[in-house]
Amino acid sequence: MSIVQIKDLVHRYFRKDDDGNVIETIEAIAGVNMEVEAGQFIAVLGHNGSGKSSLAKHINGLLQPAQGTVYVKGMRTDDESSIWDIRQNAGIVLQNPDNQIIGNIVEEDVAFGPENIGVPTEDIWRRVAESLEAVGMMAYRMSSPNHLSGGQKQRIAIAGILAMEPECIILDEPTAMLDPKGREDVIKTIHELNREKGITIILITHKMDEVIDADKVFVMDHGKVVMSGTPVEIFSQVETVKSYGLEVPHAASMAYELRKEGIPLPETIMTKEELVEALCQLN
Ligand SMILES: Nc1ncnc2c1ncn2[C@@H]1O[C@H](COP(=O)(O)OP(=O)(O)OP(=O)(O)O)[C@@H](O)[C@H]1O
Ligand SMILES: [Mg+2]
Repeated sequence: MSIVQIKDLVHRYFRKDDDGNVIETIEAIAGVNMEVEAGQFIAVLGHNGSGKSSLAKHINGLLQPAQGTVYVKGMRTDDESSIWDIRQNAGIVLQNPDNQIIGNIVEEDVAFGPENIGVPTEDIWRRVAESLEAVGMMAYRMSSPNHLSGGQKQRIAIAGILAMEPECIILDEPTAMLDPKGREDVIKTIHELNREKGITIILITHKMDEVIDADKVFVMDHGKVVMSGTPVEIFSQVETVKSYGLEVPHAASMAYELRKEGIPLPETIMTKEELVEALCQLN
């Protein structure tokens, strides 16, 4: 069953002068079609300004289509009566954890979402505990978020979304502001949520190494989806990926350069381990 379905989506921003006259129209999304199956781990790639964040905001109804339709669990995002249901089912985690944390104590912060939608008190505390457990932050339950690292804050932000018990989580470059350790913890956490809780993940990222384990990758350019497929299907097309201003994962790039020199390496190499193994098997 598809949990997110995007049909012929167009989004336009208007730049206006002081008198309110439109001086520029920016077509940030220019006819996107996308289908995400429940339980999938999806990655969306694209260089700056390709429309990724705008797309993310459409999936939980923060933006409304100029044309086309977005469905979340069969509900249209342009149907006002469904909007709260949609926001509860498709939570969004943003780049900067500091903008998403509002509570003075970790558990208050995580409880904020469910409190807001009227979840009964006993249920809230169960949800808070389960969510903090799921992101490995239970030990910080009574801490002040101010004292946490970027990666820990981002895991608290994810717990806050989890406490809404969504079926789908959209993460818009959640590791952009984190150090390598924080990045690794956040990526590991979202893979666990996907595997163990069956939560659909839509990860928007610039970092190719975060994409390798996705079920499916969409590449965006100038508001359009220009490539889609498994990571191997995408990253074996090195020149095409580069033409959209993106890199392929490091090991895939090395294997590509070595192939150009005549060394027979498979196009499926994505990781350092796979590259080493393939090289060791050469005579
Ligand atoms: N609020 C806005 N008003 C006007 N134009 C906007 C607005 N938000 C985005 N845009 C423009 O729409 C286009 C798509 O922007 P968007 O933020 O969706 O891209 P992105 O792929 O997320 O970029 P980045 O990698 O920088 O995060 C860009 O040209 C951007 O300048
Ligand atoms: Mg963005």
